[in-house]
Amino acid sequence: MVTASPTSLRGRLSDNQLNFSAGPGALPESVLRQAQDAILEVPGQGLSVLGLSHRTPWFRDVVDEAEENIRQLLHLPAGFRVLFLQGGSSLQFGMIPQSLLRSPHDSADYLVTGYWSRRSIEDVAHFGQARVVWSGESQGYRRVPSAAELECDPRSVYLHYVSNETVEGVQFQQMPGRDDVPRICDMSSDFLSAPIDCDRYSLIYAHAQKNLGPAGVTVVLIRDDLLARCRRDVPTMLNFHNHVEARSIYNTPPVFAIYVLVLVTRWLRDEVGGLEAMQQCNQQKAECLSRVLDARPGFWRVHAEPGSRSVMNIAFRLPTPELERRFLEQALDEGLRGLEGHRSVGGLRVSLYNGVTLAAVECLAEFLRDFQARQDHPA
Ligand SMILES: Cc1ncc(COP(=O)(O)O)c(C=O)c1O
Repeated sequence: MVTASPTSLRGRLSDNQLNFSAGPGALPESVLRQAQDAILEVPGQGLSVLGLSHRTPWFRDVVDEAEENIRQLLHLPAGFRVLFLQGGSSLQFGMIPQSLLRSPHDSADYLVTGYWSRRSIEDVAHFGQARVVWSGESQGYRRVPSAAELECDPRSVYLHYVSNETVEGVQFQQMPGRDDVPRICDMSSDFLSAPIDCDRYSLIYAHAQKNLGPAGVTVVLIRDDLLARCRRDVPTMLNFHNHVEARSIYNTPPVFAIYVLVLVTRWLRDEVGGLEAMQQCNQQKAECLSRVLDARPGFWRVHAEPGSRSVMNIAFRLPTPELERRFLEQALDEGLRGLEGHRSVGGLRVSLYNGVTLAAVECLAEFLRDFQARQDHPA
């Protein structure tokens, strides 16, 4: 069998396929094409998706299908509600403690493993206390904690953590926490990238703009027993019960974003073949890149420690800021985009979300090898 060389692959990849941005990220080509068509006319509707009312039976069906597809993909147990909300994952940082902490003495456990989990505790103090069970700050957020390092409080109202730290590129390989304390997880940057043991969570949330579609919609899976504990005396748009009762059409939802999310879930089911297949492909992509990075650890300085390295986001540095600048310039010349690190930490970062193909990663890996060779043997 003759395999295509990355150079010949490059010619066959579109600019959209060479998008390694941390979010909004690359979406599958077939989804982009269907979204393009729908902007002119949704099949069978005779109108643009941008001009279709959220009160039409068509849109009710779209939301219902989005829910059903997520249920199927995750094998979501009965007893979970699936919501499509607005305000991004940042709104959940406040909505969750507001709903669940009923007095200033109520306390919730938080794991602080990077930029986003640090941000997730900012709003808690308005409603109760955030007890930081573990923080990776003093070690520069290079790893997640082991089970032995966590002393979670059995009286905690919930435990909150971020499964994949998008900025630092560290990801939990094992689920932390105790099964007798509700587990709440921000899965914004790895939701639907692999199967999840949903039964062991009480609430999972993820904004769309990594693996699910465009920005504007946030998926929340909430278990009935946790929902029953959520307070109702909060502003209407921040009340989980209102969204459950309205089945995600409480006010005007982001119709286009939810429509694209449906297309992505169909793609995952019909073209990829489900989350096990997606996970395998994501592993292959991460391994393809890691082979290059790990061959020269003094040159490619990966931020995360080996046992905590993310499959979705790989953050790394080069020996000097000047080299990093050159890397980004030359990558751009090759049409490889979205490789700069988060503004809070700088450096470089590759995001390998579901929409990024293995061919695109092979192409990037070849660029890395060439870049390294050019530094080793300047012309
Ligand atoms: C893990 C994680 N949580 C939360 C957020 C914040 O999301 P949003 O911009 O939707 O509020 C981000 C943003 O990238 C993220 O990566």
